[in-house]
Amino acid sequence: MILPLVRTDHPVLRRGADMITRFDDPALQKLIDDMIPTMYERDGIGLAAPQVNYSLRLAVIVPDPDRYEEYKKESREGTVLINPRIIRHSFRKEAHEEGCLSVPGIFGPVRRYMSVTAEYQDRNGQTHTIKGTGLLARVLQHETDHLNGTLFIDKSTRLYKVTAL
Ligand code: CO
Repeated sequence: MILPLVRTDHPVLRRGADMITRFDDPALQKLIDDMIPTMYERDGIGLAAPQVNYSLRLAVIVPDPDRYEEYKKESREGTVLINPRIIRHSFRKEAHEEGCLSVPGIFGPVRRYMSVTAEYQDRNGQTHTIKGTGLLARVLQHETDHLNGTLFIDKSTRLYKVTAL
């Protein structure tokens, strides 16, 4: 099922989301199964639960954002990040354009760590770490921010509007 997205001024986007402690909950598993196709349907490379109106520390991301088109076309796979947190990051940051499915039509550069390591649990509750550089590092930071009620528009120094043709 493709889930409806909430938009910019919805309070759920500004709340610190709740930790997930129970993994055998069918409602949680269904939410994950719905979030993955919803992300691809909206052309996102990541989607956090608050964006679909669930205040839970859960996000799905494209396994390799640099190969987005392959994943969108050939599979419906997503990496499921539950209770993720950034445990290590590079010293250096870089600015790059960002957008967000919850803030349609607005883009702007955001300075992010060039590489990060996040610890998270998978959909069965097993703990893993994921290391990302470049775009993957950016997605990990953007989605973790969502779970803390932060949007990229809070961090960008220069926002601009792009109107669809
Ligand atoms: Co976003």
